[in-house]
Amino acid sequence: MRNLLLFLLLFLPTTFCISQPYKEAGSAFKDTDGNPINAHGGGVLYHNGTYYWYGEIKRGKTHKVPGSTWENYRVNAGGVSCYTSNDLKKWKFSGVVLPANKTDKTSDLHISKVIERPKVIYNKKTKQFVMWMHIDSEDYAYARSGVAVSNSPTGPFKYLGSERPNGNMARDMTVFVDDDGKAYHFYSSEENATMHIALLTDDYLKHTTTDKRILIGLSREAPAVFKYQKKYYLISSGCTGWSPNEANYAVADDILGEWKAYGNPCLGKDADKTYYAQSTFVLPIPGKSGKYIFMADQWNKLDLEKSKYLWLPLTINSRGIPEIKPN
Ligand code: GLA
Repeated sequence: MRNLLLFLLLFLPTTFCISQPYKEAGSAFKDTDGNPINAHGGGVLYHNGTYYWYGEIKRGKTHKVPGSTWENYRVNAGGVSCYTSNDLKKWKFSGVVLPANKTDKTSDLHISKVIERPKVIYNKKTKQFVMWMHIDSEDYAYARSGVAVSNSPTGPFKYLGSERPNGNMARDMTVFVDDDGKAYHFYSSEENATMHIALLTDDYLKHTTTDKRILIGLSREAPAVFKYQKKYYLISSGCTGWSPNEANYAVADDILGEWKAYGNPCLGKDADKTYYAQSTFVLPIPGKSGKYIFMADQWNKLDLEKSKYLWLPLTINSRGIPEIKPN
């Protein structure tokens, strides 16, 4: 009995501290004003003790793209939002950090375009915050990567333009900064059949010609990348549009080396459908080695504004395998 009490005293607080953030956030996902958080396909930057959650603003009526042969549901591009938190539980709306353009139809950011999966990284050398995002036309033929920059994490971000990295199509994406300060852009390319990893320039604003093809022909999207004990992990979804499918994890010893795709990191009920969600980011919990939050989107394709979020604990087991468990 005494041992049990001691165990509870020693270990319960740690368990509680680790598990609380994502459970609390998962149950509410309202900002501190009580409004639903509008930050889809997002990612979190941890900078100087504050978490910044950036994501797509999806607001307004969902429509089907005329003439599309598949389930092509869209909502007007709403720009990129930012929410800030010190504890991953209370999120304060910190503004539209990159607004959509309402007047210029030729702009990449025009409301008729697609602005998806924005991710922000901090460049220690230039002291700038760099946002990369997927820019597309409504029919997804444009397939480019856009970049914006700001001196402050809460913007405003200045849009610099878009490109096809090294001439390649680029859709779903993420960016990852390695321990040596080098940043890499992971993007679904070649009609989403093959993922690419491009090394960014030192200022993170452009692509270098170092561009590696990985997961060739495996048709993966929604990439989320993290590093654990010198190994690189990439979680991705299959390509079934807004509809859920099975996630997969891949591992590499060298970020530009050989990536091997293994299997589904999700466990338990509905693991084959990623719990009706799709990966967007893996957030390391500061100070908790091997503990992460798996951030995912539960899309509502007929009413995209009503899409929800699912945040689950992700841990690495003793064999180096990532495990995501439902709450
Ligand atoms: C997938 C992508 C999303 C979005 C939709 C569009 O789910 O991961 O970012 O592009 O397709 O159908």
